[in-house]
Amino acid sequence: MCGIVGYIGNKKAYPILIKGLSRLEYRGYDSAGVALLEDGKLNVFKRQGKVLDLTNFVADNPTNGTVGIGHTRWATHGLPNDINAHPHTSGDGSITLVHNGIIENYDILKKELIKRGHVFKSETDTEVLVHLIEDIKEKSGASLAESVRIALNEVHGAYAIVVISPEEPNKIIAAKKSSPLVIGMGEDEYYLASDATPIIEYTKNVVYLEDEQIAIIDRYNGLRIFSISNKEVSPYVQELEMQLEELEKGGYEHFMLKEIYEQPRAIHDSFRGRLNAKEGWVSLGGIKDYEDQIAKANRIIIIACGTSWHAALVAEYYFEDLARIPVEVEYASEFRYRNPIIRKDDVVIAISQSGETADTLAALKMAKEQGATLLGIVNVVGSTISRVTDAGSYTHAGPEIGVASTKAFTTQLVLLAMMALSIGKKRGTIEDKKFQTLLDEMEALPSKIEQLLKSDDYIREVSAIYKDAPNALYLGRGSSFPIALEGALKLKEISYIHAEGYPAAEMKHGPIALIDENMPVFVIATQGQNYEKVVSNIQEVKARKGKLIAIVSKGDTTVREIADHVIEIPNSDEFVVPILATIPFQLISYHIAVMRECNVDQPRNLAKSVTVE
Ligand code: F6R
Repeated sequence: MCGIVGYIGNKKAYPILIKGLSRLEYRGYDSAGVALLEDGKLNVFKRQGKVLDLTNFVADNPTNGTVGIGHTRWATHGLPNDINAHPHTSGDGSITLVHNGIIENYDILKKELIKRGHVFKSETDTEVLVHLIEDIKEKSGASLAESVRIALNEVHGAYAIVVISPEEPNKIIAAKKSSPLVIGMGEDEYYLASDATPIIEYTKNVVYLEDEQIAIIDRYNGLRIFSISNKEVSPYVQELEMQLEELEKGGYEHFMLKEIYEQPRAIHDSFRGRLNAKEGWVSLGGIKDYEDQIAKANRIIIIACGTSWHAALVAEYYFEDLARIPVEVEYASEFRYRNPIIRKDDVVIAISQSGETADTLAALKMAKEQGATLLGIVNVVGSTISRVTDAGSYTHAGPEIGVASTKAFTTQLVLLAMMALSIGKKRGTIEDKKFQTLLDEMEALPSKIEQLLKSDDYIREVSAIYKDAPNALYLGRGSSFPIALEGALKLKEISYIHAEGYPAAEMKHGPIALIDENMPVFVIATQGQNYEKVVSNIQEVKARKGKLIAIVSKGDTTVREIADHVIEIPNSDEFVVPILATIPFQLISYHIAVMRECNVDQPRNLAKSVTVE
């Protein structure tokens, strides 16, 4: 949800900013802009569209400055056009800034500033903030940093900002609250970004700014950090574990395809040091100290959004079946406004790829105030959710750049499965034999997914048949029902085909009315306790001439006779089927989106990290 970058050092800032913005483009791609300080002059370039549109626009303009800031926007306040694009500049041209987040009281502030003679060009909340800083600076004669600090005490909402001024040309001021900001520490140079991806190729040493902290970066005097109440704090420098190659497409046409193919490796990384089937153990270091508390929990509440919420739904089956602890799964956005009953012996688990999702964060904070134990299942190392929770485990999927979540989802499932297994073992609610079988099944996942990916050509052929369908239905039962939801979400978000996911048996209570010879119905019909019931549901679809694409266990003959197409997955215990069945659905969405010439990695209207409500 908007990406911001900044640079101060001895190199030309412009190429660094542009490269950084390209890395952050997954956060928003409505417009892009940069501001550079050169010989005491401020040059601002901004353009509706992608980073590439910005670079074409800038083309022959002067871009030699060694201090600069940049922004890629996901529009909240105001249309995605040139005027609303960041950076936004004060009326007198002396201050310019980029912002990620929302200034909630912008309207009141704007009215007051208008009364004091300020004139606004854009519809954004961000422009109000830069005018407020200008107003304070002008009236108080304070430095830029002090004016920013005073202004931030007056705003409500979320912000990560980076500010520069031709009047203080050797400084960058940055601050954050509820939106992320990372500072890369080079040799006499500093990089700023919404996440570490633009920084990794220059330095691995970073400082994650905390909420309500202001960083003053001076070309000659280095980095100093203050709280918003003006107390100096020592910067905590961490080393990044990320590798640069993880951020490249590596020969694939799209990041999404690369990330689908990375799943065997990602799942393997999730297991590393945590699961050993041969020795018969599973153990998550990150939650070790909280295992007793989880095992004794009155109930587990899982909060998440989107695809991560689908992982939570699968986890409900895992925890209730293996650990016999009641689970409630909540949309973070609903939970936080519902006045829910949270008790001290509840364990709240937040699932989030980015670790920055605003609704999930707010729901967590509410649960914390009510005394619950908070755990995080997060992919992005060092992200806000990983820091506000009491404990948690990283999924170790590696950077996920494609906006549609793929490997982050399957590694979430793997982690939740490991958690349920270890808590079930601790509570004695899982038999030894079953425990061992499920460990074996888990450990076999990477090679089974490798096998499954070999069907990609066939899956592409099947996808081609349905690429022009206006609607699609996805069905599953038990722990495969959330995978039907996930399949439908993936199809709609990247190919813009309307799709619905349903529990297979619910179809007859309404959606069956939609079925005719033009309706593709994707169904998970693998061997397991619901198999025969699903076969009956499939018959109901066929009786109404629906087109059936079934995911079946290898060697299945019954469904093969009824369905139009079958996609086989390796024979497995039902426990791991949700993870395996996800892969063909990811590939179907991917191929259909490519055939429909959609922007697979950056679907319209979406952003990878949703840091606004
Ligand atoms: C869909 C997708 C989104 C995210 C959702 C939550 O492919 O990626 O639905 O799952 O925005 O994001 P995180 O997991 O970062 O909290």
